[in-house]
Amino acid sequence: MKNIEFLVVVIATFVVAVTGGSFYQDFEITWGGGRAKILENGNLLTLSLDKASGSGFRSKNEYLFGKIDMQLKLVPGNSAGTVTAYYLSSLGPTHDEIDFEFLGNMSGDPYTLHTNVFSQGKGNREQQFHLWFDPTKDFHTYSVQWNPASIIFSVDGTPIREFKNLETKGVPFPKNQPMRIYSSLWDAEDWATRGGLVKTDWSQAPFTASYRNFNAQACVWTSSGSSSSCSSSSGQSLDATGQAKLRWVQKNFMVYNYCTDTNRFPQGLPPECSSA
Ligand SMILES: *[C@@H]1O[C@H](CO)[C@@H](O)[C@H](O)[C@H]1NC(C)=O
Repeated sequence: MKNIEFLVVVIATFVVAVTGGSFYQDFEITWGGGRAKILENGNLLTLSLDKASGSGFRSKNEYLFGKIDMQLKLVPGNSAGTVTAYYLSSLGPTHDEIDFEFLGNMSGDPYTLHTNVFSQGKGNREQQFHLWFDPTKDFHTYSVQWNPASIIFSVDGTPIREFKNLETKGVPFPKNQPMRIYSSLWDAEDWATRGGLVKTDWSQAPFTASYRNFNAQACVWTSSGSSSSCSSSSGQSLDATGQAKLRWVQKNFMVYNYCTDTNRFPQGLPPECSSA
């Protein structure tokens, strides 16, 4: 008997969406019950953490490329032990992921902004920074600009990290898996602050982080057959001004770079490190 193969072509398309209307429209609360709240007609979202639980939310849409901005105001005061994670992820064993994680500290000591990039399930690409301002006093904008050529992490428009597409050197690059935006506030007193030496001070609970002014000029993944193409997917990396700002941040505010951690990679640094 002859097999007839049916080739089912799923036409997946993207629409460039400029979103940022309302947290009600763009996000859903996924964790923590009443600890996550959408307030002020959808203009503000707050996450809180107490001894019983943290909380979190995720975007309704999945995105593949684009520029995604969010303003965050982090847990003030003694935030030691708390972690505010804000990231894009496709989930699953071969997931792609682009991470911002804010590790709290004791009052007066600096937060650590931890970043990582996973492609096809492999991460181990941490870079950490201190910030040039107190991220708990006001809202600041944290952005991911993601296109087929590079991923740029920025803070208030200043690039802090660029992960270039180096597939030509055999480094996988996140470019096939659409990702959702996730955020959560949780307790990581075992490791977050000074490697776990400083524990969470639960007398300060609940801890609260706030979000506003979400803006995505991004390609939204849809599985229906509209044929509009996505213009945000064209490749672009940092220009000379951006490179200069990036160098300023990396020189003055970077506190950990996997690309200089030779103890960790005795067989040699990862291939992307020689052109990062
Ligand atoms: C907390 O503050 C100490 C002292 O300034 C610093 O070494 C550390 O990197 C800060 N951040 C974390 C997450 O421990």
